[in-house]
Amino acid sequence: MEESDKNRIDVQKKRERHFLSIKDISKTLFDDILERAESFQALQTREIKKLPLLRGKTVANLFFEPSTRTRTTFELAAKRLSADVINIDIQTSATRKGESLKDTLRTLESMQTDFFVVRHPESGAAKFIADLVGDHVSVINAGDGRHEHPTQAMVDMFTILKNKKSFSDLIVSIVGDVSHSRVARSEIHALKMVGVREIRVVGPKTLIPDQIEKLGVRTFFSLEKGLKDADVIITLRLQRERMQSALLPSEKEYYRCFGLTQERLKLAKKDALVMHPGPINRGIEIESSVADGTQSVILEQVSNGISVRMAVMAILSGLKYQK
Ligand code: NCD
Repeated sequence: MEESDKNRIDVQKKRERHFLSIKDISKTLFDDILERAESFQALQTREIKKLPLLRGKTVANLFFEPSTRTRTTFELAAKRLSADVINIDIQTSATRKGESLKDTLRTLESMQTDFFVVRHPESGAAKFIADLVGDHVSVINAGDGRHEHPTQAMVDMFTILKNKKSFSDLIVSIVGDVSHSRVARSEIHALKMVGVREIRVVGPKTLIPDQIEKLGVRTFFSLEKGLKDADVIITLRLQRERMQSALLPSEKEYYRCFGLTQERLKLAKKDALVMHPGPINRGIEIESSVADGTQSVILEQVSNGISVRMAVMAILSGLKYQK
């Protein structure tokens, strides 16, 4: 084998040892995850919800930001694969005593941890950590700043596929605070990868990034127009914690113009899916009855999170140990 081919394969292997962004993964890995997640679905309703695929492996959840769904579904996914799981509570960890991130990581690494699942407020944090850790560790990005949240996008693609059977004819509208949303960025890359008919981003001008069209999406500043004939609506939370200035007059005003209400939902296709990565703010981005309505798959997204995260860990573990 030529030296350049060997280097390319090494780089590819290293890249696929971690799961950092949708933008950088291969379509093969992407498809493998969806397929493997499907094979884990039946397990979730069995009496004994365990497989031995990660027996003897250790998964450390490192969350520097609050999380309910992502953290708990990662924990359950790891446990259902028989891994040992440790949850590092950053609020009470040595980081609070001034220990650097590097030293905390080195400490965890020395305990022979196999996976770091990382959520961090800074964009690029997961990649930074992946560059620091030794060869035996895989890093999974569970959301870094506004950059990416790749497993959420995989969960959402899986949920869309389960409900719609194929991607190619779909119009997908991503509604709300796109500017601050790592979920939106990962979804756009994923929707491009699966090849939907049209990707729309819909929201007030102040919450839609300039030149987002360059990513291959259509922009709408009117919810009514953005919802017309949509097959899938992905609603996003207003990410106030990431807004550096007043980008909105008020939440009430936002709801008046961009809240997904029963009335507005009628503008989309009759069987349009209503999705939301959570946490949801009822009466701000979505009407309560829509969140709980027959078209909503919000809780299905949560439960699919277990199978999809199991798939990501099982595949990365396989890639790591196959020599
Ligand atoms: C999202 C996140 O944290 O990026 N939620 C999630 O992981 N399910 C979206 C959000 O915080 O609004």
